[in-house]
Amino acid sequence: MNSKNIQSETEEYTFVAASASLEDEDMIEVLVGKETLLIARTNGNVHAVDGICSHAYAELVDGELEDHCLYCPLHFAAFDIRDGSVLEGPADTPLSVYEVFEQDGSIWVKV
Ligand code: FES
Repeated sequence: MNSKNIQSETEEYTFVAASASLEDEDMIEVLVGKETLLIARTNGNVHAVDGICSHAYAELVDGELEDHCLYCPLHFAAFDIRDGSVLEGPADTPLSVYEVFEQDGSIWVKV
């Protein structure tokens, strides 16, 4: 994202974490408004998806992240962290994906 846009972008985006707090293959859960989000870094890229599994109630931050595959801790559905798609059931509904960007040591998300 172009740095000259940050002034207007920050009106739409919410700061969620310092870049240094999210190492590669790490995940954190954040609350933005009423939405629980999962912020994850894999292969150097930061992604933001629903923090709660679309199958039943499970916090995905307690699951596993392997490359781009996010595994639910409860019934082990697998989602693609890049686009929220279901890779493996029992879940059949994709996760919502949120715009995220990283700049000047900060991670921002648009909900
Ligand atoms: S709650 Fe996630 S797969 Fe069932």
